[in-house]
Amino acid sequence: MTRYSAVLLFITLSLFTAGPARGAAPFDFEGVTVTDSTGKQITQCQPGQALRYKAVYSLDRPALVLLYGYVTGSNWSKKLDLRIRLRLSGLYSVVWSGSIPVNANGDTRVDVVEYTPLFNERIVRSAFFTVQPFEAPYVGSDVCSGCHSTVYAAWQQTLHYPYVGCEACHGPGGAHIQAPSPATIVIDYYASGCKPCHSRNDGTVIEAENGLIKSQQQYNEWVSTKHGIFLQCGNCHNPHYSVETARAKAIKTPCELCHPLKRIYLGMQLVECENCHMPPAVKTLQSTGFGMYLKGDTASHIWRIKNEASYGDMFIGSAAVKDGNGPFLTLNFACLSCHNGADSRLYDYTSVQHSATLVH
Ligand code: HEC
Ligand code: HEC
Ligand code: HEC
Ligand code: HEC
Ligand code: HEC
Ligand code: HEC
Ligand code: HEC
Repeated sequence: MTRYSAVLLFITLSLFTAGPARGAAPFDFEGVTVTDSTGKQITQCQPGQALRYKAVYSLDRPALVLLYGYVTGSNWSKKLDLRIRLRLSGLYSVVWSGSIPVNANGDTRVDVVEYTPLFNERIVRSAFFTVQPFEAPYVGSDVCSGCHSTVYAAWQQTLHYPYVGCEACHGPGGAHIQAPSPATIVIDYYASGCKPCHSRNDGTVIEAENGLIKSQQQYNEWVSTKHGIFLQCGNCHNPHYSVETARAKAIKTPCELCHPLKRIYLGMQLVECENCHMPPAVKTLQSTGFGMYLKGDTASHIWRIKNEASYGDMFIGSAAVKDGNGPFLTLNFACLSCHNGADSRLYDYTSVQHSATLVH
């Protein structure tokens, strides 16, 4: 170590450890509050409501602070993701947002952990609130059709029809049909509303079988991608419309809107973004082809293509692999699902690996 870096290290260490009360933790964790989306503190809320969990802490000298936590209801839970803060002395807050699932009910607990690594000190503060479900009976989708005929007609064309009714996403409608207004019905804008049906296991592992992703895992795929950080399912989807038969309305935000600078070369201007980035790497009912030309029947929600990965690298055992940037698709799905001699000219893995870097 040079003398210069030794001095720097000393200064850094003393900055974080020295101070008025040496040895004592340099912080106080004031507490956690639960507010609605306008910032008003609440102790009661309704299913579907968007909430914010706010942790307030103070430092009397600079420190590195890690905060994370859990929201736990009687039949659901949610992680509050890790936030890392390097701060000077002062009063600070961290806010997480999320929504209450449509089927939530009763007492709910929020635990936030504040951890200061240099002091190896953990403090937990909690807050409590109650979810008051609408005291309303379920009335069935047909009752909604009278006033929401357009939505109803669109829904009838989707795969949600007939078993995933309006109330599966919007909660019981009994109070709403008596007094129709936004205050008597739930809209859940978060992916947690889709998770109960579009995920397997606890949502973390992407399960696979015979070289293809298993069905009903859009949540598992999405959650550890970049889109999982920035977008909810509902930012791309209007779930009232069918992706198959009313695509323009079902996909309300085309890729190009957020990625306007992506150009496609190699004579593939007519190929859609989804053909390469959401290929049929998922099997719901059937698969076709074999070996590197194997494909399923359902679009993947992984999006990221890893050119340098070899054929077979996408799965280990019965799960999709995640590297430091999350899960990825290999070129047998991104390219060979078309370049298989049937849908387009036949290529092998090595040739598409050579040309993949030239697509954009
Ligand atoms: C008697 C007519 C009527 C019936 C029946 C009805 N609604 Fe509504 N609904 C309304 C009205 C009026 C609004 C308020 C529109 C507004 O204020 O923008 C509304 C709004 C909504 C909203 C939007 C809430 C918001 O935050 O914007 C949803 C979701 C909804 N209804 C779902 C349903 C469901 C599900 C059913 C069947 C269980 C149903 N409605 C039955 C009249 C009705
Ligand atoms: C109560 C269970 C349930 C919930 C909640 C649910 N889905 Fe589905 N969804 C299904 C089932 C079952 C299918 C049909 C089987 C399949 O496609 O795998 C489906 C199919 C779909 C399809 C394809 C529909 C088509 O016709 O093209 C889309 C898109 C979709 N869901 C999006 C969503 C989104 C977005 C949410 C959350 C806002 C959601 N779903 C919530 C059960 C559900
Ligand atoms: C798969 C979940 C799901 C199902 C099933 C569903 N909705 Fe929705 N609904 C949503 C979501 C999510 C939104 C918010 C959409 C947005 O802002 O893009 C919404 C919004 C609405 C709205 C207000 C905005 C609009 O698009 O008009 C109404 C009204 C509504 N739903 C009625 C219904 C009715 C009636 C049914 C049954 C025929 C139904 N929904 C079925 C998830 C669902
Ligand atoms: C970045 C935009 C985007 C996000 C975010 C997104 N989707 Fe999709 N989804 C799409 C597109 C585009 C398709 C149509 C793919 C195709 O058929 O080429 C689709 C298709 C689907 C399908 C039908 C698959 C099939 O092939 O039948 C389901 C189900 C679905 N999405 C559910 C979800 C759920 C649940 C979430 C959230 C966990 C989600 N999506 C998030 C863009 C998105
Ligand atoms: C509402 C905006 C939005 C839409 C719609 C959207 N994206 Fe993205 N996408 C983003 C953002 C934000 C990122 C993260 C950007 C970053 O990290 O540079 C991203 C990242 C990506 C990445 C890089 C993923 C990674 O892990 O490196 C790919 C590939 C991608 N998007 C493809 C698509 C495709 C294909 C569609 C259409 C099906 C689409 N996106 C729709 C906003 C969007
Ligand atoms: C012919 C297949 C193909 C099509 C079509 C395609 N992409 Fe890509 N895309 C790729 C490949 C392969 C990569 C990885 C490139 C690399 O790593 O050099 C990539 C990378 C990306 C990335 C992440 C790379 C980065 O760092 O910016 C984004 C975002 C993206 N594509 C968006 C899109 C959008 C939006 C469209 C539609 C306009 C689209 N792609 C159409 C094959 C395709
Ligand atoms: C939706 C189907 C589809 C997908 C997915 C697809 N391609 Fe293509 N590709 C085509 C079509 C169609 C053409 C133009 C006609 C032809 O050459 O067959 C083409 C042309 C090409 C060409 C130029 C051929 C030539 O001789 O000039 C190359 C190279 C190529 N694709 C590589 C790729 C790579 C690499 C990927 C994956 C990153 C990919 N393709 C994904 C359909 C597809």
